[in-house]
Amino acid sequence: MIKTVATTPFQDQRPGTSGLRKKVTVFQGANYTENFIQSIFNVLEGFAGKTLVIGGDGRFYNDRVVQIAIRMAAANGFGRVIVGQGGLLSTPAASNVIRKNGAFGGIILSASHNPGGPDGDFGIKYNASNGGPAPEKITEAIFAQSKALASYKTTDTADIDLARLGATKVEGMSVEVIDPVADYATLMQGLFDFDLIRSLIKSGFSMKFDGMSAITGPYGSRIFEDLLGAPKGTVMNGTPLPDFGGHHPDPNLVHAKELCDLVIGGKGPDFGAASDGDGDRNLIVGKGIYVTPSDSLAIIAANAALAPGYAKGIAGVARSMPTSCAADRVAQKLGINQFETPTGWKFFGNLLDAGKVTVCGEESFGTGSNHVREKDGVWAVLMWLNILARRKESVASIVTKHWAEYGRNYYTRHDYEEVASDAANALVNGLRARLPSLVGQNNIVKADDFAYDDPVDGSRTTGQGIRLIFANGARIIYRLSGTGTSGATLRVYIEDYQPDSARHNLDPQVALASLITYARSVADIEKLTGRAEPTVIT
Ligand code: G1P
Ligand code: ZN
Repeated sequence: MIKTVATTPFQDQRPGTSGLRKKVTVFQGANYTENFIQSIFNVLEGFAGKTLVIGGDGRFYNDRVVQIAIRMAAANGFGRVIVGQGGLLSTPAASNVIRKNGAFGGIILSASHNPGGPDGDFGIKYNASNGGPAPEKITEAIFAQSKALASYKTTDTADIDLARLGATKVEGMSVEVIDPVADYATLMQGLFDFDLIRSLIKSGFSMKFDGMSAITGPYGSRIFEDLLGAPKGTVMNGTPLPDFGGHHPDPNLVHAKELCDLVIGGKGPDFGAASDGDGDRNLIVGKGIYVTPSDSLAIIAANAALAPGYAKGIAGVARSMPTSCAADRVAQKLGINQFETPTGWKFFGNLLDAGKVTVCGEESFGTGSNHVREKDGVWAVLMWLNILARRKESVASIVTKHWAEYGRNYYTRHDYEEVASDAANALVNGLRARLPSLVGQNNIVKADDFAYDDPVDGSRTTGQGIRLIFANGARIIYRLSGTGTSGATLRVYIEDYQPDSARHNLDPQVALASLITYARSVADIEKLTGRAEPTVIT
């Protein structure tokens, strides 16, 4: 039976860079989850009888929220829910399921790379019919709803058995439980040359993929081991766990240390890769080399045509503002479109929908293309494998040749996590107030607060990060994270361009040392935050 439950609104349900993220304990609070889901439904129009996709990264509380969302979808009048078996769908796979089935939209349950477990984080995100994260005008409308919500609709039906594939009914709404991997694997087989990659692996090329005890384990086993013939054990940490084994499922040098030590150390396999909690991020390492996400984007853009799905060439490439300018050089050379957007995948959606770009990326280990409307970790790994199989060169050779051809954009990101919000705001506001006076100092030619005018829908987004741009193209960028759940995280992005290949083999921290020192002093980081050093360097 459908019932309407009276509730009182919350004032803190504003979606951030990627949906609403809070501690699990917050989502467990009475009506907290239900209120947010109802706020989503209240904003949407014309979904009666239509299809909603539901799935998540399997973190603690995923199983409960899937059931809540199914009941509420039925009570609100959806005609069909498609849900991944066990309530699981990686974020890019969910995007694909939405697109493939012409669904009205989807609810994705994830806090991405944030830790999980009863004391960890949880998140809820709404994706629209293009398969991509809802644009700001929708997320802001959801927030407005949530602040005034008086009731939500649900049913009193029992939980669905999500272990069993197939269809059932909830109050007249059909619920289809699907294999979370199958459609995604088919999509990948259409984009990449699986035969060629299989022969590369057969010829002795070795790889490791770290699923980080998160969602991509099953995707990795099916694709790399079953379909591409990599030996069993190629996928490490391949079983999704509700608490990710107590680790941060964030594929970077700090959290994927075991894999990085093995591969970059030079004694392990030829190629290593990892993905995050919900499967949209990727880390790429080769024997003796770490590929920065910014370089990976540029290299993928330059070599995409080697993969069958992109053989006709790419229309353009977009990167988030703090991502290094390496991809711009490739776009210039190829004579294709190039865009610089604010941080967050939602800003790529319009460009992809309009066919203005094919490949997109962010410095935060995110790369993807127009095949879905999310970044896609396993896609990036397959793209690299396809490039490696075609070029028959090592990762290190491909990267160093790329630098020799285009120059190297030395790049690093320094994160100061969990600093006091007041201090972080004071730091950014202080810089903003001093912007005009910074121009001219230390060869700074431009100092601004990044704003973006969307060329497709004309919307303007302001306040997206403080940029200091130097005469030689070097950049220092400051912005506050929009995905954290406690305190503030200050991100400082530092980049310098080196055209001379004789100077391409420095450690980025060394190559960027003087810019790093300047970045700290001009923003008074230590004085304002009490932190002499960042907590994470990538
Ligand atoms: C971070 C990344 C950003 C990415 C987002 C979601 O957001 O910096 O590039 O799109 O996670 O994965 P932030 O915490 O910086 O707001
Ligand atoms: Zn993620």
